[in-house]
Amino acid sequence: MNQKLVIANWKMNGNLTEIRVLLHDLFQNTKNMDLVEDKIVICPPFCYASFVIGRLAEMGWLLGAQDCSSRSNGAFTGEISAEMLKDIGCNHVLVGHSERRQHHHEDNNFIHTKMQNVFNAGMMPVLCIGETLEQREAGQALNVIQSQLFECLGNQSITQPFIVAYEPVWAIGTGKVAQLSDIQEVHNHIKKLLETRNKASEPTPILYGGSVNAQNAHEILQLHEVEGVLVGGASLKVADFTKILESALC
Ligand code: PGA
Repeated sequence: MNQKLVIANWKMNGNLTEIRVLLHDLFQNTKNMDLVEDKIVICPPFCYASFVIGRLAEMGWLLGAQDCSSRSNGAFTGEISAEMLKDIGCNHVLVGHSERRQHHHEDNNFIHTKMQNVFNAGMMPVLCIGETLEQREAGQALNVIQSQLFECLGNQSITQPFIVAYEPVWAIGTGKVAQLSDIQEVHNHIKKLLETRNKASEPTPILYGGSVNAQNAHEILQLHEVEGVLVGGASLKVADFTKILESALC
């Protein structure tokens, strides 16, 4: 199996002491793995990013951000711009995570603006899309995915590389994982939709996210439609995240 991408989304968890221990233990567990560079991205809370990047650099791991502002600079109290993230060495930025859509009412147009900012700053956006349980049960999953994807990408063809993460909302943080056949169906759907829009020189990797853990990572990552995983809760547990890295990278 080719090595696949693993993105850890720590969300609003941890403190300096815990992060120090987590990274130390992860590095110990993985130091003998034959890792290709640039396959592991850690998205800590913003305030720990500068601390974390120093540690990640020793391992060839990359820094990601969980979000960025839709503005480029100015009087926007509490916001952090894509340029600032680039400035401290960030590579990837999650945009459109369902928790941002749900708790901060971010819609597809707003997410499109953020994505443009990430492109303009020269980083890699990780566009998160996914249907709710009601939408899936109503047979609307593929339509919802299509409108999220197209509205977030905007009308122009995309010439810069980006990543899509399929994360069914009902699978995030719930312990419920999508059926492998559903993951395959949605990933194939996204791939087909992207053929019309992606004019970047590199193909767009499509990741799966939503309750990925030490037990299910292997079978999910075995699917050739899945080019990596976006991991929340399990990325904070050393043993679980080590297992996920083994499944993706060994
Ligand atoms: P989870 O979160 O792995 O805890 O379900 C995934 C995510 O929110 O990206």
